[in-house]
Amino acid sequence: MAPKDVAQNIYDPDFVKDVFDRCSEKYIAFSYVCSFGFTERWRRQCVAALPRTSSEATRGYDLMAGTGEAWPHLLRIRPEVEEVTAVDISSGMHRRAMDRLHRHRANKIAFIEDDVLKSDLPAESADFVISTFGLKTFNDTQLQKLAALVSRVLKPGGVFSMIEASDPKGWTFRPLYQFHLLRVLPMIERLFLNGAQDFAMIGRYTTNFGDTRRFAEHLARNGLQTEYRRYFFGCATGVVGRKQ
Ligand SMILES: C[S@@+](CC[C@H](N)C(=O)[O-])C[C@H]1O[C@@H](n2cnc3c(N)ncnc32)[C@H](O)[C@@H]1O
Repeated sequence: MAPKDVAQNIYDPDFVKDVFDRCSEKYIAFSYVCSFGFTERWRRQCVAALPRTSSEATRGYDLMAGTGEAWPHLLRIRPEVEEVTAVDISSGMHRRAMDRLHRHRANKIAFIEDDVLKSDLPAESADFVISTFGLKTFNDTQLQKLAALVSRVLKPGGVFSMIEASDPKGWTFRPLYQFHLLRVLPMIERLFLNGAQDFAMIGRYTTNFGDTRRFAEHLARNGLQTEYRRYFFGCATGVVGRKQ
């Protein structure tokens, strides 16, 4: 991690909340356009990777849900889903998620605005947990807490699938990808969003994060069966699994 990231404590939940509150208005468009549509594809793949359960009607959590970008995929791919509780720390993202709720079966979705690591989600309350692009803003200690939480809230037999933008180490086009993430996106943001530097933070978080392997190990240490996944040459990575 860069010394300036330590000095600024970019992992302080209040700092993260401020970044996403400021990003929220343009988040959907920016993430779609600047990833050339890949974020949408990866959300769909993350939901499709969720292992099957034996339950007929299922309920679960979308952690770090943002404006609910994963819900249309979840409700379409898994019609048996009866209830989704979305958790997100950002009031801006929450507001936009609520607008979206009215268009996407609001009766199935509840939203909790909270720091997920401080939330008291009940033990063994979920058949599934999903999370799309919500891991990178946690440091390793926070990821360990998150892994313990996922393990605690899943029912025995419960399943999970999570995905995060990652550093595709070893890929031929990695320098180009890094250039896009760390140079082009911040420049677009400065030009088109009045000099803002919030989306630029996403590149910094992604580079620091690496990939989901470390998080997969934390989940396994908490007794979960885990499988590491790579998407598009490792530009995104995921972890899927089950609680026995
Ligand atoms: C990159 S966005 C991902 C949003 C959405 N899931 C998606 O697919 O685009 C990361 C989200 O994580 C949320 N977040 C970050 N730290 C959090 C925390 N400690 N508790 C709850 N939400 C958090 C942010 O507010 C933000 O909405």
